[in-house]
Formats: sequence, C-alpha cells, structure tokens
Amino acid sequence: MKRATALLLLVVSTLLASSNAEEAFDVRQHLSTVTRYSVAKQVAENSFVRFMSSNVPDGCTPIHLNLVDMRSSLNVGFYHQARHGTRAPTKKRIGELNKLEARLEPLLRDAEEQKLPLQKVPSWLSGWKSPWKGKLKGGELITQGEVELYDLGIRIREKFPDVFNEEYHPEVYAIRATQVPRASASAVAFGMALFGGRGNLGPGRNRAFAVISESRASDILLRFFDSCENYKDYRKREEPAVDKLKEPTFDEITSALVSRFGLNFTRQDTSSLWFLCKQEASLLNITDQACSLFTPSEIALLEWTDDLELFILKGYGKSLNYQMGVPLLVDVLQAMEQAIKAQEEKLPAGSYEKARLRFAHAETVVPFSCLLGLFHEGFGFQQIQREEPLEPPPKPPQRRNWRGSVVAPFAGNNMLVLYSCPANSSSKYFVQVLHNEDPIPVPGCDGSDVCPFEVFKERIVAPHLKSDYNTLCNVNPVKAEQCPSTTSKSSLLFRWLSWLWNDDKGSRKDDL
Ligand SMILES: *[C@@H]1O[C@H](CO)[C@@H](O)[C@H](O)[C@H]1NC(C)=O
Ligand SMILES: *[C@@H]1O[C@H](CO)[C@@H](O)[C@H](O)[C@H]1NC(C)=O
Ligand SMILES: *[C@@H]1O[C@H](CO)[C@@H](O)[C@H](O)[C@H]1NC(C)=O
Repeated sequence: MKRATALLLLVVSTLLASSNAEEAFDVRQHLSTVTRYSVAKQVAENSFVRFMSSNVPDGCTPIHLNLVDMRSSLNVGFYHQARHGTRAPTKKRIGELNKLEARLEPLLRDAEEQKLPLQKVPSWLSGWKSPWKGKLKGGELITQGEVELYDLGIRIREKFPDVFNEEYHPEVYAIRATQVPRASASAVAFGMALFGGRGNLGPGRNRAFAVISESRASDILLRFFDSCENYKDYRKREEPAVDKLKEPTFDEITSALVSRFGLNFTRQDTSSLWFLCKQEASLLNITDQACSLFTPSEIALLEWTDDLELFILKGYGKSLNYQMGVPLLVDVLQAMEQAIKAQEEKLPAGSYEKARLRFAHAETVVPFSCLLGLFHEGFGFQQIQREEPLEPPPKPPQRRNWRGSVVAPFAGNNMLVLYSCPANSSSKYFVQVLHNEDPIPVPGCDGSDVCPFEVFKERIVAPHLKSDYNTLCNVNPVKAEQCPSTTSKSSLLFRWLSWLWNDDKGSRKDDL
C-alpha cells in the first residue's frame, strides 16, 4: 500500500515538473519587437515589469483619450522597413531568406559527403524553401494585424463608454495615421470597431470616418525620425557599432550550433536563422523549425541582442532618440489642455475633441515611452530628464525591464487618459498612463499610473522642453524667429505650442 502511494506521488510530481518546464519557456514570448500583441500581454502579466491596478481617484470621469499606437502584425518585408527606414526593405529581408535557402543545400551536401551522422540534422532543413520566396511586395497589414487592431478598438470602446458615447465627428474623434498604407489600414481597422453598429452601411451598420495623414516628408508629430537629420546620421554611424556589439554573442551561439548539428554555420547563418525563427513563430505560429535549433538560453541571448539594438537606436541609448519626439508629447499635452478648457467653459457636447487617435510606427511609440520615463532599469529617471544616455539593459540571465516584447510588440500602444475629478480637493484633472492597455507606474508621478494634470505637465513634459526640434535635428539649425528670450519652463512650453500651431498654418516645410 505504502509503495503504491509513493509511486503515484512520483508520477504526479514528474508530470508537474514537465508541464511547468514547458510553460516556463515559450519562444513566442521572446521575439523582441516581433512579438504578437496577445503574447505581449501574457509576457507583461508574468513579468517583473509589474503592472498595477488603476489608481484613479473615486468620482472621476474620463473626458479625453490620447492614443499612440504602432504598426500591427505585418508581413516580413514591413518588419524590416520599420527597423531600417526607407531603403529597399522588402527585397533585402526576403532576399536574406532566399540566400539562406541557397546556403543550406551545400551545407547539408558537405555534411553528407563527410558521412557525418545526419540524424543529428533536423529533417525540416533538407529541401527547406522560404515561404516568402518570390514575394516581391511586402509590408501590407496581414489578417492577424487587422484583427489585433479591431479587437483593440472594441476593448477601448467598452472600457471608456463616457469617451465614445457621442455621434461621430472628425473633430470629436480625430484619427491620424502616418502617410504609410499599413498605418492607415491599422487606423481603419480600429475605427471600424469604434464606430461599427452606429451607422447605416451594410449589415454591420458601419459608418465612414476620416483618417488624416500629414505628408510623409514633414510629419514631425508621427514621423519625427524621418525629418531629423542628426538622428539619421546617428543611425547610420551607430548601426555598425551595434553589429559589433552583437558579434560575440552570435559567435558563441554559432559554435554551439556547429557542434550540435555538425553543419558549418557562419555568423550570418545564425543571424538569418534567428530572423527566420522570429518570422515563423510570430507570423506562421511555427516553433518547431528554426526556433527549435536554439536552446532556451540561446534564445534569451538572441532576444537580448535585439533589445539592445532597440535600446541603442530607438530608446534610452541616446537622448536624441526620444528628444526628437517632443513635438508629439507637446501635441498630446495640447489636446489635454484644450479638453480641460472645453470642460471649464462647459462647452456643449459634440463641440470639442474627446479622443485623438494616432497610428504610426515603433520609431514613434518607443521614443514616446521613453519621454514618459517607462521601462528603464530603475535608477534612470533623473538621467532621462537631464537627457543623458542610460546604461544598456543587462545581459541574461540578469533580469531587465527593457524588453522589446513588452515595450514595442506588434500593435503596441500608449494611452493617456484625462480624467475630470470635480470632487477632488488636490486637483480637478488627472492623467492616467496605460501601456498596452494596462496601468503602468510612471516614475515622474512617484511611481503611480495617475498624476494630477499639473504634475504631469511640470514634471514629465516641461523638463523635455529645453531645446526645439529644429535645433536638435538639423546640423545647421535655421534660427527660429520670434523665440521668446526668457527660458522659463512656461515660456518654453509656449514656444513649443505656438510653433506647433504655426505648423497647422502650413509654414513648417520652410522651417525645416
Ligand atoms: C567545416 O569546416 C571545417 C574547417 O573549415 C572543415 O575541416 C570541416 O570538414 C567542415 N565540415 C563540413 C561538414 O563541411
Ligand atoms: C499556435 O500554436 C499553438 C500550438 O503550438 C496553439 O495552441 C495556438 O492556438 C496557436 N496560435 C495561433 C494564433 O494560431
Ligand atoms: C484626490 O486624489 C488623490 C490622488 O489620487 C487621492 O489620494 C485623494 O483621495 C482624492 N481626494 C478626494 C477627496 O477624492
């Protein structure tokens, strides 16, 4: 009797152990910025980046919502374009996989000729064909991406009924996208969710709504990285240095692959196989091919190299990366100030803006998160406000807050919700920060997700207003005319605001 119990216990405990181990590592949660939105939500839930329950005081009503959303799941070509800007992206990354296909054949043949134990070689490798072979156009929003944005729209509409209770008008619900088809398609998928069932079109009772884009070349609110010459120079200079930084990790993993599979992989092969792993896992939900070549600890290192690149080229690695996003931060603040003004003046419903919804890129959302001070390793807030670069995220197995899968997954977003709290004695307006829909601690708000509006303005926005976009971004800045000569915080804010308003009158092209 005793023995039987012991045996039973043993069986149960091994079962538990193995199911725990499986749960503990899912490669889909380690794909840096190629992570799907639904998976990113799981990563955030399980991770030390502690999300919190909301701290909005009682008796508050949301009166305005600012959303900054980035591109959703897209085809292989786009992924590259998001990372490297405008040079022939699709062809290059698809070409890389075509090259990998051509490389694998001789590698396998060599191994065969040398009579190596081929059973070591995973069977999918022989005769592997790139699923994107022959695809010349990429970068469109794939179905999965449409669904992500549509579902996000449904959830936001349900979560903020007070904000989305009005008749659609383009000035009440302003939708902006960059002048890039996938961003505007994302906005459309989102808008269909937001306004569906309230119009007269078809069985879904859809309604038409407007998506406005600035010209691509001069969109300093959503494509500030594209007009910033100093940033573009920095990227060009820094990319080779980032590659150098990654080399030791790739070399280490390459030798491990060579001895594991008996194939003469090069560093480039490892890099291509990691790229393939991410695409397969994220877009095709295949994890038993390229991804299975790597051990979990190797994947953790590869993920870290991607996160490191994100940090250096788009995040806290250089203050310019996020400082150039200040026009967007000021636009967000301006939207809030107008909403407060409308509230104070008791303007009739339907006569003022209730949401400003923006659809852009990783290069937009990541700097914006940095401006808010999110996801640094804990001691960085003062440094960020002084515009100093931060230390790069620590290498695994050390833990880090800066994870691409959380900071900027597909469809990653930041929402700033403005609340009116008439009964509160300390402040009548509060700002809540949500990252991927979850309340997130904001260092400038003493680690709360909610800040009195004045605190948000003084402690989070004002410190970033030290210099203007033109001075930051251009090698030979054109002297801005009529700058107020004092440099107090409020006059700097005034300068930013009036400059943005001037933009609306169409003078920006000449300024830049
Ligand atoms: C791999 O390369 C090494 C040295 O370049 C060579 O000695 C070995 O035979 C090669 N192995 C295969 C399987 O091609
Ligand atoms: C991906 O595959 C797993 C099984 O490996 C399955 O449980 C999951 O539902 C799939 N996800 C999607 C989005 O198809
Ligand atoms: C006002 O807001 C603060 C900050 O969230 C909160 O601690 C306080 O309880 C609120 N006061 C009232 C009267 O609601």
